Amino acid sequence: MADKTDSPSGKTFTLTNDQTGDKWVLPVFDGTIGPSTIDIRTLYEETGHFTLDPSFTSTASCRSRITFIDGDEGILLHRGYNIKDLAEKSDFLEVAYALLYGDLPNKKSYEEFRKNITYHTMVHEQLQFFFRGFRRDAHPMAVMCGVVGALAAFYHDSLDISDPNQREISAHRLIAKLPTLAAMAFKYSIGQPFVYPRNDLGFAENFLHMCFAVPAEPYRVNPILADAMDKILILHADHEQNASTSTVRLAGSSQANPFACIAAGIASLWGPAHGGANQAVLEMLAEIGTKDRIPEFVQGVKDKKYRLMGFGHRVYKNFDPRAQIMKETCDKVLSELGVKDPALEIAMELERIALSDPYFIDRKLYPNVDFYSGIILKAMGFPVSMFTVLFAVARTVGWVSQWKEMMEEPSNRIGRPRQLYTGAAQRDYVKIEKRT
Ligand code: CMC
Repeated sequence: MADKTDSPSGKTFTLTNDQTGDKWVLPVFDGTIGPSTIDIRTLYEETGHFTLDPSFTSTASCRSRITFIDGDEGILLHRGYNIKDLAEKSDFLEVAYALLYGDLPNKKSYEEFRKNITYHTMVHEQLQFFFRGFRRDAHPMAVMCGVVGALAAFYHDSLDISDPNQREISAHRLIAKLPTLAAMAFKYSIGQPFVYPRNDLGFAENFLHMCFAVPAEPYRVNPILADAMDKILILHADHEQNASTSTVRLAGSSQANPFACIAAGIASLWGPAHGGANQAVLEMLAEIGTKDRIPEFVQGVKDKKYRLMGFGHRVYKNFDPRAQIMKETCDKVLSELGVKDPALEIAMELERIALSDPYFIDRKLYPNVDFYSGIILKAMGFPVSMFTVLFAVARTVGWVSQWKEMMEEPSNRIGRPRQLYTGAAQRDYVKIEKRT
C-alpha cells in the first residue's frame, strides 16, 4: 500500500562539484519519523562518482516499516509500539505477530498464530543425527549455523520464495523450530537426551522446559523465570538494520532460501561486537575476578587495551531502553533465585564507575541490553556459550519479518555495494622466474 513516504517529499539536496561547479539536485524522502534521506540512486549514472560510507554510518540500505530507533532519545518502537509497553504488557508471540504482520493481534488472530507456531515446534527426527556429527564441546553457535542452514534440506515444500504462502510457512517454521534446535544444541553439549517440545506450554516456558527438563522426573518451569525469558525474547526480537539483519537481507536479496538467510544471520550475530557481547560480558567479569581489580581494568579500557563489553552502541548514544527493562528483570530473577553472584557485584561496580567517569560519559558509553542479559541467563543455569544462541532464538522473529518485508517489495533487487578501490593499478604480468 503506497503512502506519502513512497514519493519524494518535494525537498531537495543540491550537490556541487567544487572543481567543475556542476550541480546535481537530489530528491529527499521523508520517513514517518526520524531523519530524512537523500536519494542517491542515480548519483553514479549522473556524476560518475560513488559515495563512500564504510560501516554504513550514514546510509539507509532499505525502506522499512518494522522498527524505529531514535538513538539520541533512547526510543525503540516496533510497528510504532514502544518497547517498554510491549515488554511489560505483551508476550513474545504477540510481539512476533506485530513484527511479522504490522499490528498487534486481536484475540482471534493471536490464537490462530499461536496454533500455527506450535504446529511447527517439532523438527524432523532425522535432524538429531546432524547434532551427533558435532563434537560435544563444539560452540553451540557453530552447531546452530549448521543445523539451521540444514533445515532447507528438510522442508522442500516451503522453499519457493515466489509463493507468499510458502514464505509464510517457512517464517512460521523458523520462529517455531529455533527454540527446539537451540535446546537440542544445549542438551547435546551437556550429554543429556533431547526433550521434545510441549505445545501446551507458552513459548518461553516450552523453551525452558526443553532446556532443563530430563526424562527421569517431572519438571515445572518457574513462572518468574518463564516471564524473564519472555522479556529477554521480546527485548532482542528486532533492532532495525543491524549487522545480522543486514546480512539476512543481503543474503535474501540474491533470492536464497529463508533457512539459508537465517543461517547467515546467525553467523553474523555470533561476533562479540554484536550478539556475542553477552558472552563476552561474562568472560570479562570472570577475568576481572575481584572488585579490587576493577580500577586496573578500567585503566586498561582507557588505555584502549580492551573494551568494556556490554557498554556502548552504534545507535544509542544516551541510553539503551532495553537495558533499563533488562536491569529490572535481572533484579527479579536474582532475588527469586537467591543468587549472590560475585560477577554481579563486579558488574554493578563497573556500571557505577562507567556512569560517573568522564571517559565513558564523554564517549556516551552506557550499558546496553547485553550487559544484564548475560547475568540473568547465567543465574538461570545457562552456560555462557548458550547466551548468543538465545539471542538468535529471539532475533529470528526480526530476521524473518525483515526478510518477508523485503521479499514483498516489488522493486527488490540483489544488493551490491560498491567500493573505493585502493589496490594496484593494472600492471604487467611477470613470470615467476623473473620475479625478485
Ligand atoms: N568500551 C570502551 N570504549 C568504547 C566502547 C567500549 N565498549 N565502545 C566504544 N568505545 C570507545 C571507542 O574506543 C571510541 O573511543 P575514541 O573516540 O577515543 O576512539 C569511541 O568509544 C567510539 O567508538 P566506536 O568504535 O566508534 O563505536 P561504534 O559505534 O563503532 O561501536 C559497539 C559500537 C557496540 C561495537 C561498541 O560500543 C562496542 O564494541 N561495545 C562492546 C560490545 C557490545 O557490548 N556490543 C553489544 C551491542 S548491543 C547488542 C547488539 O546490538 O548486538
